[in-house]
Parts: sequence; structure tokens; C-alpha cells
Amino acid sequence: MDLVQRAYSPHRPSDIRIRVLQPADGAAPEGGDVAQGLGARPKTLPPKYFYDAQGSRLFDRITTLPEYYLTRTEQLILAECARDLARRMGPTDLVELGSGSAKKTRTVIDALLEETPAKAPLLYVPIDVSEAALEESAAGLVAAYPRLAISGLVGTYEAGLAALPPRLAPRRLMLFLGSTIGNLDDGESAEFFARAARALEPGDALLLGFDLVKTPGIIDAAYNDAQGVTAAFNLNMLRHLNRRFDGDFDLACFRHRAFFDAEASRIEMHLVSACAQTVSLRKLGLVARFDAGETIRTEISRKFRFAAMAEAVSRHGLALEARWSDRQEWFALALFRKH
Ligand code: AVJ
Repeated sequence: MDLVQRAYSPHRPSDIRIRVLQPADGAAPEGGDVAQGLGARPKTLPPKYFYDAQGSRLFDRITTLPEYYLTRTEQLILAECARDLARRMGPTDLVELGSGSAKKTRTVIDALLEETPAKAPLLYVPIDVSEAALEESAAGLVAAYPRLAISGLVGTYEAGLAALPPRLAPRRLMLFLGSTIGNLDDGESAEFFARAARALEPGDALLLGFDLVKTPGIIDAAYNDAQGVTAAFNLNMLRHLNRRFDGDFDLACFRHRAFFDAEASRIEMHLVSACAQTVSLRKLGLVARFDAGETIRTEISRKFRFAAMAEAVSRHGLALEARWSDRQEWFALALFRKH
């Protein structure tokens, strides 16, 4: 792959630049969040550790499962609304948080290119914790779209939003799709919206994709698929931690568990320890003890009511401009404009 980091400017069509971001100065040291989560009661681990190369691949398989309605539904809505979205934005840069395979992004890129002046590049800034996913998707995208200039950032949303490259177009459109917002609790999402709003200028916009409240059985099935891909995805986090922090999690001693908590309107995913055991992560100088049946919560995935989400976002200087949904109202896309 020709993923050469080119030092020259300006950013030109077919350019790919990928920067691996270091955690910000003063931020917790690498793995501090793992130590903190495993020391807590109940134990938790941050969902960003799902996404090593293998985890990103497993997630892509999840998106094609019959039970996992989210991606398919969002793609359907995007296909319907992309032209409208592009017309509202005019010439714009595109920033995407948690870009992954960037498959859905193609629908947005197709529409935005129609609004991009001839010969001008369309700047795409994908941000993802998986370097492998970012490199693969960037290579695929420039091959398909010679007018793209890609400036990818490997790191957390926090690090990515603090390191955005200079603008090329008059506006910036930020994508946060897939209901990844549902992984954050109320406090974390408020902080996220504040950060996102700070990276936007008046006239810029955020396109947010989020999963809506629906019959619990439908939600439950999406996280307990018959083929066990979600279970493999959940367990893969332990393999990733083993590699990254020199750990000895035994994957055979943990089980996948996911359930819908209707009260909190969220899925919880856990890894259940099948026996009493001790696990060490040598690079973190960490030993964690598990009782038989004790769980690690690896993810929450919240399901929202549209009005509550619009209200939460609008507190950050972002006004709801347009909304799109599927006919069953299972999933929503909302465009918020910075004022
Ligand atoms: C990519 C975070 C939106 O919460 O539905 C899929 C991840 N977890 N199956 C989600 C996931 C289990 C997914 N997000």
C-alpha cells in the first residue's frame, strides 16, 4: 500500500496522510483506563479496546448480520438523505469520528462531491482508534475517489478533535454515525458534544446517527446473534488487551452476555468469568481477581428518544436543522448546525 506520509503541502487529491496521535499531555498514561476499570466494582473496560484490526473486522461482520438492524437501517436513511444533506452544506470538508471501514461514508462522499468545485479536492478526515482499519479504508477510498484528499488521525475522539488539520473548504461537516454515541453515558456524551462543538465554527454541522427505542426483543437479538459473532467480538477485547499489555486472559474462561435494560434504555455487554481466576497484565503491573460469575461490563449501547437527544445536543450551541428516519423509526439521523 502506498501509505507514505508525505510532508509537503498543500493537500492534493489522492493524497493520504495518516498521523498516529499520542495521548494528550497530562492525559492518563496508556492503559490507565484499563487499570481503573478493572479496579472498579463492578469491573468495566472501555469499548474502544474492541477495535484492534481483528475487532474492526468482527464489527464489520456484525454489521451484515440479520439481527443487527442498525447499520443496514442507517445506510438506508443515508441513501435517502445524502443529496439533501449535501445541498444544505455546500462545499465542505468531511470529518468522521469512528470511521471504521467507512462503507456508509461513501454515500455521503458521493453526494458531497457534487457540491465540490471541479478540480478542488474533497478533504476527508477519518478518526479511528484502529490504525489497520484506517489504512485499509483510506486506500480503498482514494482508489474509488481520486478527488479525495485524506488526512487520517489514529486515536481517540478526544485526541482527534484536538488535532484536526487546517480546513480546505468554507465549511466542516462532522459525522458521528452508527449510534456510537450510545456507548457514552450522559456525562460522557455531554463532554463529547462540548468538544465536538468546539471543533466547529458557525455554519459548520454535526450529522449524528443514533438508535431509537423500540421493542426490546428486537434490540436484544441484535446483541445476541445466532452465529455468535457478537460473542467473538466481545471476547476479542481480551485478546487485544493480552497483546497490548502483555496479559494472560484465558478466553476460554469468559462468556459473552448481553441484555437490554429497559429502565435505563440500554444494552449492557459483559464478559462473565466462568470460574474464580486471577489475570495479570504485566505491562500495567496489574493483577485482577475474579470470582466465579463475576462480570466485566465492556459496553453500554443506549437507545434514545429523538426529542431527548435533540435537547441534549442543543445545549452545546448546536441547533437541530433536519432529521431523517426509516419508516419504522428504528434509527435516526439528525443534522445540527453550529450557531
Ligand atoms: C458501533 C458502538 C454502535 O453499540 O451497537 C455492536 C458496537 N456492540 N455489537 C453498538 C456493537 C455489539 C455498536 N457501536
